[in-house]
Amino acid sequence: MAFTAVLALLAGARLAVSQNSSFPTSTAAANATQTSSGTGSLTTTFELSVDDFWDIYVGPVSTFSINTTVEPTAIPSSSLIPPPSLYYPPFPGGQQVPLQTKNESWQFPKDFWYGVAGAAYQIEGAVKAEGRGPSIWDVLTHRVTNYIVTNDTGDVADNNYYQYKEDIARIAALGIKTYSFSISWSRILPFGSGTVNEAALAHYDDLIDTCHQYGVTPMATLYHWDLPLYLQNTYGGWLSDSIVADFTEYARIVFNRYHSKVHYWFTINEPIVFCGFYPLPQNYFKATTIPDVEQPYWCGHHALLAHSSAYRLGKSINSSLSISFKTNGGYKIPRTDSSADADAVQRAWAFNEAWFADPVFLTGDYPSLLKDFVSGFLPDFTSEQIAQINGSGDIFAHDAYTSDFVMAPDSGIAACVANSSNELYPGCYNTTKLYAGDYWAIGPAGDPGTPWLNKATDWVPVFLKYIQDTWKPRGGIAVSEFGISEPYEELRTSLPSILIDPLRSQYYVDYMQAILIALSEGVNVVGTLAWSIYDNLEWTSGYSVKFGIQYVNLTTQERYFKASAFEYVNIIEKYLEK
Ligand code: GAL
Repeated sequence: MAFTAVLALLAGARLAVSQNSSFPTSTAAANATQTSSGTGSLTTTFELSVDDFWDIYVGPVSTFSINTTVEPTAIPSSSLIPPPSLYYPPFPGGQQVPLQTKNESWQFPKDFWYGVAGAAYQIEGAVKAEGRGPSIWDVLTHRVTNYIVTNDTGDVADNNYYQYKEDIARIAALGIKTYSFSISWSRILPFGSGTVNEAALAHYDDLIDTCHQYGVTPMATLYHWDLPLYLQNTYGGWLSDSIVADFTEYARIVFNRYHSKVHYWFTINEPIVFCGFYPLPQNYFKATTIPDVEQPYWCGHHALLAHSSAYRLGKSINSSLSISFKTNGGYKIPRTDSSADADAVQRAWAFNEAWFADPVFLTGDYPSLLKDFVSGFLPDFTSEQIAQINGSGDIFAHDAYTSDFVMAPDSGIAACVANSSNELYPGCYNTTKLYAGDYWAIGPAGDPGTPWLNKATDWVPVFLKYIQDTWKPRGGIAVSEFGISEPYEELRTSLPSILIDPLRSQYYVDYMQAILIALSEGVNVVGTLAWSIYDNLEWTSGYSVKFGIQYVNLTTQERYFKASAFEYVNIIEKYLEK
């Protein structure tokens, strides 16, 4: 099937991205118009095929030798033998062996779901296969100098596009019951809207059917940051309200196709983070006149509208679906008992979780501390929009990796709010991983490539309780991503040294016990998804930072269970209601 789109190219800076590519004159429609005398505003339109679009904006991509869908190979039984005990419960006084304790007052309810997660651009590879159009991440990895610290790309990644059957078979063999994946928008719609790519729909059909075949519940995310490049280049992506209709149409295609076999849906993944990517690097995408400081909030505005529109549509197609968006963040611990730090904590909630959670779970509109800022430039939501947004989340899906201490800026909150050049503006709160005294960290640090991430599992019960008390989600709370980057894992060269991941193992055991405490206190936690199914492209850190509960040899694409995979499953099975 031929996919084409008409793309207007501005003369000047944006053409710089095509300087290393041969320009596809054969398909260019001679349709140049001069709109004014300055060269910067000379425009022309071309009709481009998907391949042209790749050639101009991304260039050549790598492929892997396994490039058709493969049947799973047998999982060696030796790889399913649990590791030597890594996590030691306390020695009772005077005894020589660890006490195998079980707290009989703890329990995961029978219908508690536990699984693993991945995301399309991070794991699929096969970026040009079967008609996929480029996403902004293909440009960020291929073209933007130093955007990825290691110069890695997602071209091959974990080759999941061809090896998904093996991947599903492997997690099923471990006893994992749920698999959360994301759908690549630019596979389904190579230009973000327009003609549908049937081959991509058939691919995800088979992936979903394979999950069912192995007794694994599939959960699908519509958008995990891989925006179709065409939408960024034609109207600025999430900066424009045009995204709302295009996202809704994409959601319609996907819901219509899969609603009878996928019950759990996430619309957008972590808008706090992907909206924080704006402003995108200059000269690679459509230029915008929106000031840098405003861009994340325009993105957030359209993300709320797009999410809620897709939510309403999904419910109209199948009212039994569970549809939510995934938010992210950690517990915000006042660093001291000062009133300034208490105020800073309120600002930190308002500019993070509450930015999206207040509209969806409470009011249909922004928290007042955030509204004070955004009402200076964003349009007010109309009453119809408020009604659409309010209540558009069935569960509170939170990606909750860590926690932070929060404090007022040194100059004080009021001075910061009055000074747009303050580096903490507009949030005007500060964070640290260190307890007051600046000596002890909140917990052991992850890899140096993830300075935002320390193990802070002690704070999980109070955090979950805070979410329940504040946003009162009707379908409970899911920890929809959690995990840790094992420190310096990328420096380990022998397989046995890679496969024992003690910090990650301890993280999962302690985190799951923290959830058991929360459950015993009456917090309705419904499920967990470990990030990640295996090591993958960790965005700007490339493959240098590892989050997997499986190791992937990127040269051979062989997968190996790490110890943490067993620890995660064991602690759940130990406490799961029989
Ligand atoms: C999340 C994100 C994932 C993964 C993870 C670890 O924010 O959704 O894609 O990268 O962090 O950093």
